[in-house]
Amino acid sequence: MNSRPILIAPSILASDFARLGEEVRAVDEAGADWIHLDVMDGHFVPNITFGPPVVKAIRAASKKVFDVHLMIAAADSYLEPFADAGADIITVHAEAGPHLDRSLQAIRALGKKAGVSLNPATPESAIEYVLDKLDLILLMTVNPGFGGQAFIPAMLEKIRRTHAMIGDRPIHIEVDGGVALDTAPLVTAAGADVLVAGSAVFKGGTRSAYTANIGAIRDAARVGLASAAA
Ligand code: DX5
Ligand code: ZN
Repeated sequence: MNSRPILIAPSILASDFARLGEEVRAVDEAGADWIHLDVMDGHFVPNITFGPPVVKAIRAASKKVFDVHLMIAAADSYLEPFADAGADIITVHAEAGPHLDRSLQAIRALGKKAGVSLNPATPESAIEYVLDKLDLILLMTVNPGFGGQAFIPAMLEKIRRTHAMIGDRPIHIEVDGGVALDTAPLVTAAGADVLVAGSAVFKGGTRSAYTANIGAIRDAARVGLASAAA
C-alpha cells in the first residue's frame, strides 16, 4: 500500500461543536481528503459524542468521504441508521461485538465500505480471517475515547505487521490518535496510508490555520513514505 496516496482525515472531535457544520466546511476547503466522525456511546468508551441525526445534519456541509468510526458496543442495529445518514465508510471495533464477520457483511450489504478498528492491546491477528470482507483497517494509536492523547510507540510495529499481513489486498491502513508532525512520518514509513488527526488539524481555530496544519501533516507524512521507499 506504500504506493497509495496519503489521505488526511481530520477528526471533528477536536472542532467547535457549536459551529459543527461550518467546521466541516472549513476543513473540507482546507484540503481534508476524508472527514472522520467519532461516534462514542459511553459504554464501549468512557465518552459520548453524537449519533446519526448529527451525521445527517452535517452531510450537506461537505461532499468528501464521511469516515464514520463507531466506538459503540453492539453496533449492528446502528449500521443502517448511519448508512442512511450519509456515512461512506463505516468502521466497527473488533472488540465491540460478538460477530465481526457478520457486522462487516452487513456494512457491505448496505453499499458502504467496511472498516474494522483495533484497540492498542488487540493484536492484528484478530482480523486475519476477515481480510476479504474489509476495505479499511483502523489502528488505534491511543486508547479510544478522547482526543489529544499521546501516541503509543508500540503501535508502529503493529502497523508494520498489519501492512505485511494485508499483502496486495486493496485495504487502507488508517491510524488514529496522537497523529501530528512528529508521528506522521513514522506511521507512513510503517505502512499507514490514511492519517486521522484531531488536535493537530484544528489547532488555531481558523480555516487558514487548518490549511496550514493539513499541509504540514501531509508533508511530514510524505517524508516518512519517501524514507520507506528508499
Ligand atoms: C479517539 C478518536 C480520535 C481522536 C483523535 O477515540 O477516535 O479520532 O479524535 O484525536 P487526536 O488527533 O487529537 O489524538
Ligand atoms: Zn476516530
